[in-house]
Amino acid sequence: MGYQTIYNAWKADPEGFWLNAAEAIDWVEAPQQALTDKGDGLYEWFADTKVNTCWNAVDRHVEAGRGAQAAIIYDSPVTDTKETITYADLKTRVANLAGALRAQGVEKGDRVIIYMPMVPQALEAMLACGRIGAIHSVVFGGFAANELAVRIDDATPKAIIAASCGIEPGRIVEYKPLLDAAIEASTHKPELCVILQREQHRADMIDGRDVDYYGCQDGVEPADCLPVEGNHPSYILYTSGTTGQPKGVIRHTAGQLVALNWTMQAIYNIKPGEVFWAASDVGWVVGHSYICYAPLIHGNTTIVFEGKPVGTPDAGTFWRVISEHNVTSFFTAPTALRAVKREDPEGTMVKDYDMSCLGQVYLAGERADPDTLEWAQHHLKVPVIDHWWQTETGWAIAANPLGVEELPIKLGSPAKAMPGYQVDILGDDGHPVADGELGAIAVKLPLPPGTLPTLWNAEARFKSSYLEAFPGYYETGDAGMKDEDGYLYIMARTDDVINVAGHRLSTGGMEEVLAAHKDVAECAVIGVSDSLKGQMPVGFLCLNAGCDRAPEDVIKEVVADVRNQIGPVAAFKKAVVVDRLPKTRSGKILRGTMVSIADGKEWKMPATIDDPAILDEIGEALKTIGYAQT
Ligand code: COA
Ligand code: AMP
Repeated sequence: MGYQTIYNAWKADPEGFWLNAAEAIDWVEAPQQALTDKGDGLYEWFADTKVNTCWNAVDRHVEAGRGAQAAIIYDSPVTDTKETITYADLKTRVANLAGALRAQGVEKGDRVIIYMPMVPQALEAMLACGRIGAIHSVVFGGFAANELAVRIDDATPKAIIAASCGIEPGRIVEYKPLLDAAIEASTHKPELCVILQREQHRADMIDGRDVDYYGCQDGVEPADCLPVEGNHPSYILYTSGTTGQPKGVIRHTAGQLVALNWTMQAIYNIKPGEVFWAASDVGWVVGHSYICYAPLIHGNTTIVFEGKPVGTPDAGTFWRVISEHNVTSFFTAPTALRAVKREDPEGTMVKDYDMSCLGQVYLAGERADPDTLEWAQHHLKVPVIDHWWQTETGWAIAANPLGVEELPIKLGSPAKAMPGYQVDILGDDGHPVADGELGAIAVKLPLPPGTLPTLWNAEARFKSSYLEAFPGYYETGDAGMKDEDGYLYIMARTDDVINVAGHRLSTGGMEEVLAAHKDVAECAVIGVSDSLKGQMPVGFLCLNAGCDRAPEDVIKEVVADVRNQIGPVAAFKKAVVVDRLPKTRSGKILRGTMVSIADGKEWKMPATIDDPAILDEIGEALKTIGYAQT
């Protein structure tokens, strides 16, 4: 069956399609009904079921005779460690941790924040939560204490599982002081912190609150898998929106199991038993879906890689891991391949390894630029597939489903809509535009299983962010077009979200930090094009009248503020001081025009601009930091 046949089969009977896919899951109470329409644009999948994520990701494979198969391969060039954890080992490790959490009072529905680097214990912690029905929320290690505090207050976790440190090239990132500062700053206080002490750095423990990750497992009764309702949240994952307050995307248990399992063969072209590697981080959605859940649910071996594409130790690391661990499908971000290409433009390091195991490569997280994609295709000699998705959807909206049919690759396009998604390009009037025309990309409701049903504690925000602009649709926040063959092209965000090295960041959140500086009267942050990271944030500061401080001193302080309050991952390093910001007559900052000027692109004078002369000043200021070169 080809792509079109499968897509048409879904369209003809969406519920039948997903009920069919649901047969691959072990249910305690199987679905009778696929979709529940809750009204007002809200839907749930498989709400009438009883099921357990951990059972499906771990125990059932042991029962089925895969106990001796590697479930996780941990490969950490930054600590010079390699470890293989079989499905049987994983079951024991997860059941013990789950038992310890339960013994400490963590119950079904309790939230548990996980703040860990790329170590196998991060996956164990996620699975242990699922085993007992606790809802995890993983926070990326590159975020600062303040971001962690915001998430603690929103998710109100009973427990936090953290590591003593993460390792970045050239430095040890001590997590415990960040964790302690976050708890100090938050209104909600967790009852318990479970700390994984790593040998690279041992953290100080706080009596009565902190317990050792392994110490707390001593002598506890391992926990069995607790069946939960299909619409019980598996996790909350915070993602950037237009403000500094992140959105808590919820993933329901059953939809995640059904959808992710379906994608492994259909999209990623991989059979149970084979090795799948997503070189991302557990703190991002790719890490949730494709380092942890999908490969394990599908009975694959997943790789937990603690390193970078370059510098750990060199640009051949990816190829070494693929070859050494026999990876069939590899998933990474275009920015990572750009980093490799920059160091090894001729791809000579690829030739150092036997890469015959590799079947295909997948790219996501940002637009795959044709140069990078062609470079990878040329040197790796396998199909390199761009696919498009978001934290909200949890899996690909558009892809080239190699396990179904290899569609012709069109450079610059992540190919076609996957079953479950009717993708339309809408004009301002909410009606589909003609093929080839630009518009807002929207998905007809209901979204498929595995996507977000709502936001944590924020249903009104869910509706206003995603459902109100185009009634009957989910608004993706991306703009683009569809060609006459149904291929999608994702061109830009329609909001203030930027994408820096595959990391989704809010310029609004950075502006909140800049605006809080005592000398800053007004500010703006835009995302300018960057040949390595895709985009980089650049700040514009208008200082308070009467402020006579040297601009470079204020800039240094706001750069430090963003690093301390959002985190190093924001990569906010450049700002300029200007007298005024360009605005429309109604007072809206003309960020789009500023981006075009910064990128050295042609731009048109906005008809609504208040004072055109300001744009020249912006251009001059940008030239001082290396932008606006025509
Ligand atoms: N904990 C603490 N700090 C972290 C961190 C973590 N988990 N991850 C990143 N950081 C820090 C980095 O050390 C760096 O700090 P610095 O300013 O002191 O140098 C900063 O955050 C920016 O990091 P990063 O975005 O990783 O940039 P880089 O220049 O170190 O590396 C790339 C560039 C392209 C190699 C890297 O960004 C990369 O591998 N990107 C792929 C991302 C990805 O897979 N995304 C998932 C989507 S699929
Ligand atoms: P995140 O939620 O971090 O996965 O970021 C999702 C956003 O990243 C999308 O809304 C897009 O703006 C962008 N994105 C992800 N994948 C792609 C892709 N393949 N092509 C273009 N943009 C992408």
